[in-house]
Amino acid sequence: MDPNASGLAKRLAEAGQSHLLQFWKELSPEQQSDLTLDMQGMDFQEINGFFEKAGETSSGVSKQDARMEPVPRDVLGSVTRDRDSLKDWEEAGLHCISHSKVAALLLAGGQGTRLGVSYPKGMYDVGLPSHKTLFQIQAERILKLQQLAEQKHKIKCCLPWYIMTSGRTMESTKDYFSRHNYFGLDKNNIIFFQQGMLPAMDYKGKIILENKGKLCMAPDGNGGLYRALGTQGIMEDMERRGVEFIHVYCVDNILVKVADPSFVGFCVKKGADCGAKVVEKTNPTEAVGVVCKVDGLYRVVEYSEITLATAEKRSADGRLMFNAANVANHFFSFSFLRDVVRKYEPELQHHVAQKKIPHVNPEGQQITPDKPNGIKMEKFVFDIFQFAKTFVVYEVLREDEFAPLKNADSQDAKDTPTTARHALMSLHHRWVLNAGGHFIDENGRHVPAIPRDGAAGRFTDDGNRNLKDGTDLPIKCEISPLVSYGGEGLEELVKGREFHPTLTIDGNGVHELVKNGV
Ligand code: UTP
Repeated sequence: MDPNASGLAKRLAEAGQSHLLQFWKELSPEQQSDLTLDMQGMDFQEINGFFEKAGETSSGVSKQDARMEPVPRDVLGSVTRDRDSLKDWEEAGLHCISHSKVAALLLAGGQGTRLGVSYPKGMYDVGLPSHKTLFQIQAERILKLQQLAEQKHKIKCCLPWYIMTSGRTMESTKDYFSRHNYFGLDKNNIIFFQQGMLPAMDYKGKIILENKGKLCMAPDGNGGLYRALGTQGIMEDMERRGVEFIHVYCVDNILVKVADPSFVGFCVKKGADCGAKVVEKTNPTEAVGVVCKVDGLYRVVEYSEITLATAEKRSADGRLMFNAANVANHFFSFSFLRDVVRKYEPELQHHVAQKKIPHVNPEGQQITPDKPNGIKMEKFVFDIFQFAKTFVVYEVLREDEFAPLKNADSQDAKDTPTTARHALMSLHHRWVLNAGGHFIDENGRHVPAIPRDGAAGRFTDDGNRNLKDGTDLPIKCEISPLVSYGGEGLEELVKGREFHPTLTIDGNGVHELVKNGV
């Protein structure tokens, strides 16, 4: 439809965005209708407002050091320092799960640019013996957890799984789950919803055209969650189902304990409305955000917002003072989340990321910039900590619970398919050892539990140990989540037994796959 007749041209002119129609006459009727469709539902004044506000905040970013306080011990739970309470917390969490009060909420709307695949990251296969994808691993953990809760409390329960996708990933994600029969979960308890998108803008606030007939759009950040929960009717769905507690997590962490009963139980017992799972930051220069208090309110302070002197400060026990590394793994009570969606969401400001954005210039040429030429605006999931009345922090071991998949494999890259795969196999190796099993090498000798040289990055992929250069590789060992959620229930399968890697344990039993064999 003609943009003048439809009022689109007027709306664009009022918002100073008329350049978006610059190539209109050159477009085919299909391209014209696609472009119109893209712009139809957009509120350009609102977008301009986001740009202005985001600019104010980002130019005001200053060092936070003087205003920061570490997380006080009384709001902190730790799997290493509070061992005596772990069982109680887990039981409390399982009790809530058994009464169908807990939901898992997966943030899967990212673009996965660094990994560089064209499909949603959850569909990625990191090369485990089973070739399970991240989605499948998570689905099976949910299945197992439901089973554990049901067995313990002798009632049927359901743990709904809310999956946030973006416009780009919705169809392929849904299609993937349907093709795999929802990995054994009840499809009625998997609820897909879509986060919003925002246009990329140049430094003057003009929306960038990707090509003559298309705006450059990107998801509005994982904090786009809160707006999407409201616009997509998800809070009503939760209320209908009686969900009281929500575990929010990211798609890319292969070790994620979905709806972790100990974390949920800890938060519930503390009466928390909001909780953050963290891992210990041990290296002062690690570029992670830390959970702390700023002017009395909880926040995540990014590495770039503190000085090295503050990053290096230590407490009396020798640990870094600001050591609560945020891993985007959160607990919310339903009522807190509802308040956020209803009241606080509009107060959240977008963060600005400067990006190299391919675009068409006013002369109609396609440009691939070699330095940043514009911004993308994103909200972050942790931006709402400041509104919590009872905020708690739960510290877990990084090697047990956090191994994100961010980058493609390459020599020096961090957080790759290889590091994720190794982290999972190393955890499962330890589960077998803890349950009384052993691994033996090709000479029949027990493989030591602690590697002689854990030179991460020197792993190769074809075997389990690279004895030639003395570098130990992770034992190839994979345990299906359908058999064990967190290392439990393995004694009867492995106690007192010796295994040659590759070892896999699944619903059909224990299998040793002979190298180069079947
Ligand atoms: P990242 O910030 O690591 O982004 O997301 P990403 O999309 O996975 O990867 P890059 O930066 O493009 O390479 C952390 C988590 O937040 C989710 C992601 O899906 C991931 O689970 N996320 C991110 C969203 O759900 N929506 C967004 O808009 C951005």
